[in-house]
Amino acid sequence: MNKIIVLVILSATILLCIRATDGDPKKKFIEPSVQRSGDAAAGYDYLMNGDYVSSGIPVSFFSSKSSDSLSIDLGRAIQNHNLPPQFTHIIKDSVEMVAPNCLSCHGEYLNGEYIVGLGNSTFNYTYNLAPATNFLSMAIKGNYGADSDVWNKYSQFDKATKAINPKLVTEVRGVNPADKLTAVLVAHRDPVTLEWRDEAALEIPDVTIPTDVPPWWVLKKKNAMFYTAIGRGDFSKFLMASSILTMRDTSEAKVIDEHFPDVLAWINTIEPPKYPKPIDQDRANKGKVIFNKNCSGCHGTYGTDGEYPNFLVSLETVGTDRALSDAYTKGTYRPFIDWYSESWFSQSDNGGELVIEEGYVAQPLDGIWASAPYLHNGSVPTVEALLNSKLRPEFWKRSFDSYDYDYDALGWNYTDLESKEDNETYDTTIKGYKNTGHLFGDRLSDTDRMAVIEYLKTL
Ligand code: HEC
Ligand code: HEC
Repeated sequence: MNKIIVLVILSATILLCIRATDGDPKKKFIEPSVQRSGDAAAGYDYLMNGDYVSSGIPVSFFSSKSSDSLSIDLGRAIQNHNLPPQFTHIIKDSVEMVAPNCLSCHGEYLNGEYIVGLGNSTFNYTYNLAPATNFLSMAIKGNYGADSDVWNKYSQFDKATKAINPKLVTEVRGVNPADKLTAVLVAHRDPVTLEWRDEAALEIPDVTIPTDVPPWWVLKKKNAMFYTAIGRGDFSKFLMASSILTMRDTSEAKVIDEHFPDVLAWINTIEPPKYPKPIDQDRANKGKVIFNKNCSGCHGTYGTDGEYPNFLVSLETVGTDRALSDAYTKGTYRPFIDWYSESWFSQSDNGGELVIEEGYVAQPLDGIWASAPYLHNGSVPTVEALLNSKLRPEFWKRSFDSYDYDYDALGWNYTDLESKEDNETYDTTIKGYKNTGHLFGDRLSDTDRMAVIEYLKTL
């Protein structure tokens, strides 16, 4: 009799152990990778004033339409005082140019305030910008001549923008084509020397899968970069990816690479903006208990002893649009993945590594109130609609005015439409733009859901 009990207990324990070591197939722990350390202040200076994008528009041809952006004080160097935040003044062999920087995608207004690190959710990629670039390059060539130093320094920017512009068109304003941008640029680069080649040597996928630019302040908790957790190994090798636009070769890449551990150090200091309205603390406390029961298994706990679990959640479990994950796992981005593994980016010291696994990261929710729209493709306008799938609009439109924010539902005020009106209508029926899945908030009562939202305001 005793023997049987012991046996039962033993086999139960063994079974439990197997389960524990096997892990939950619905989510997978993302292993951390070693990062180089850096100097945050030097990183901020380089980010704001550095020439990591080393070719651009000659200063005399640069005109900025947005005068209000000039009054933002970001503590930039004097030569950048009269430029909008997303552009940097650079000098190459005494040719003065204006080059785009990281803030073209990683800076945005909210409620009239410019926030460095908040993803740009207003830029309009629905047009093919090629005709505008062609016009500009004709004018520059006409003015300076094809033999001039100015043309010579501008020409790399010209070649790169001509290659990418026709390929980056999205279906709706506000989403970003960065994954495709990288795929197009590397198709024009030799993986070993990083030199530009005019003919694309890799097959460029037809589709442009949209993403919502993530806020920078969550990176410090994450063991992998990007929604699909593909960015492993040395993060700096991914952070410097914008330089692929204009870099000459590996000698320039090496110089740029030395600065990016500093940029990473600075990004790791960014704190999310505080929710600016009053918070009902009692309700938020109740919300915390409900959150910790229903959400923290994937998104972690918050506060001084908070822990972030770093899980990649399977597509079947989260159920959100699968196009981005599939592009990596099912072959669309295969040529790009192979290029990367052979390239200087992964083969040089402190290499970056692409790890391809199906699923999406359950992001840290710090400052989540500020980073609408939601999900990796920005298909859901508010946190409230994310947590109550019945409310999610199929076709929706917002004003793209940074003051037009809903501080109760946490996200953009929007109009729910019957069908697509124009390229500012988010159409969730298109592949890559779907707003399905993440039904974890549906099982909460309305009162509990509102309590969770109150709690999210405190993060
Ligand atoms: C053309 C727009 C664009 C530019 C320019 C750009 N990024 Fe990004 N960045 C993105 C998008 C979109 C993502 C998310 C892609 C994904 O996860 O699939 C991203 C992701 C990131 C992440 C990862 C965040 C996370 O939590 O996983 C970091 C960090 C980052 N970018 C830093 C930079 C830096 C530094 C620069 C400038 C050197 C830069 N980016 C330039 C669009 C851009
Ligand atoms: C099984 C894991 C899991 C559970 C449980 C879960 N989430 Fe998520 N959550 C995810 C994943 C994965 C994503 C990213 C999906 C995507 O972008 O396609 C996500 C995305 C989100 C986002 C959007 C983040 C952004 O930046 O766009 C919010 C907000 C969120 N979850 C809140 C919650 C809340 C609140 C709960 C509890 C009611 C919850 N989640 C429960 C896995 C989970």
